Amino acid sequence: VTVIEGLPYRVFVAEDAAPMVAQLAAQTGGAVALVFDRRVAHRAAPVREALQGSGVQVAGELAVNAGERRKTLRGAMNVVQWLTSIWADRRSLLIAVGGGTLTDCAGFAAAMYMRGIAWLPVPTTVLGMVDAAIGGKTGVDLPEGKNLVGAFWDPAAVVCDLAALRTLPRKQRATGMAEIIKAGIVGDPALFESVERRGTRALGAHSIEAAARVKVAIVAQDPREHGPRAALNLGHTIGHALEAASGFRMAHGDAVSVGLRAAGLLALAEGVWSRAEHARVLRSLVKCKLPVHHSESVEAVVAALAHDKKRVGSELRFVLPTRVGEVRTEVGVALARAREAVERCAASPGPDELAQ
Ligand SMILES: NC(=O)c1ccc[n+]([C@@H]2O[C@H](COP(=O)([O-])OP(=O)(O)OC[C@H]3O[C@@H](n4cnc5c(N)ncnc54)[C@H](O)[C@@H]3O)[C@@H](O)[C@H]2O)c1
Ligand SMILES: [Zn+2]
Repeated sequence: VTVIEGLPYRVFVAEDAAPMVAQLAAQTGGAVALVFDRRVAHRAAPVREALQGSGVQVAGELAVNAGERRKTLRGAMNVVQWLTSIWADRRSLLIAVGGGTLTDCAGFAAAMYMRGIAWLPVPTTVLGMVDAAIGGKTGVDLPEGKNLVGAFWDPAAVVCDLAALRTLPRKQRATGMAEIIKAGIVGDPALFESVERRGTRALGAHSIEAAARVKVAIVAQDPREHGPRAALNLGHTIGHALEAASGFRMAHGDAVSVGLRAAGLLALAEGVWSRAEHARVLRSLVKCKLPVHHSESVEAVVAALAHDKKRVGSELRFVLPTRVGEVRTEVGVALARAREAVERCAASPGPDELAQ
């Protein structure tokens, strides 16, 4: 078990989360409410057994269908009402086993119930481990947009369950790789180099720990997202616009991958990033079989960009890479420039972009 320090709570990366979760739950002293994504019922089972083995009272269990379409106010209220039905009180601990949609929704339910009870996410996807479960942002989607309702509500701890990754679908692994590459560019050159060398074979305990450390370090600087935390949005501005333009048919990881190329192109245009490093990023994405071009309508992507929360007049705020392991936030980029990058990313990179 590895421990990552730096936040008011600890982040553990364990092969099997169960014993650590039981130990932490025993320390809190209250009864436990266990909510999990049905798809990982086989990972919730050892958690339940370990809790019972340590004499922790499990007040109730709730299996839910997770996924973005269930990350709703209704989904969160379902958890809250279940907490009421099992007489959960202020000392109860809500343990949530699942991916980012489940931990976002359960964390939000924990924030609301009795004005906030303790909760402990056990992420079971790479994205959950290196991103969603760390940082205290909880919330749900509205029909009008993603993550429009939520709260900052820190967990008691985070326990990543590496064993869960064995059943993780290929698409979710690919998304995880895109986030790990992003983490490397944002703050860990050695992590980036390992992916550059080994491609998807780099996915494992080591890279997940390293990427989680990058997230912890940035959240520690800016727990309530007033500034520096924006670094984590590298590749996500154009990435989100691509997802929206595709009607959310494009996978998040694919969108981030193309978004990383687009951010690189913008950084090249700004003169803050080198061709050699841009080529390294592209080759690493390709090596992981991530896409570096899209087939969405440029107009639709630009329209989605124009709706970006960070737009000020005809200017957007971007995170741009400056070198592998370092980014610059809050770079003003004219919408027209962003459009050019989106247009270029509609075609595969030529030798000019791929060569060292
Ligand atoms: N709170 C934050 O700071 C933050 C940060 C980044 C992303 N997010 C959120 O995270 C969500 C995406 O998370 P995600 O990619 O984990 O999605 P997810 O929870 O929908 O999981 C992806 C899919 O994999 C399944 N699954 C989960 N673990 C599995 C396992 N071990 N084996 C087999 N199947 C498994 C799920 O049922 C689902 O179908 C988005 O809603 C996003 O907004 C939140
Ligand atoms: Zn992401």
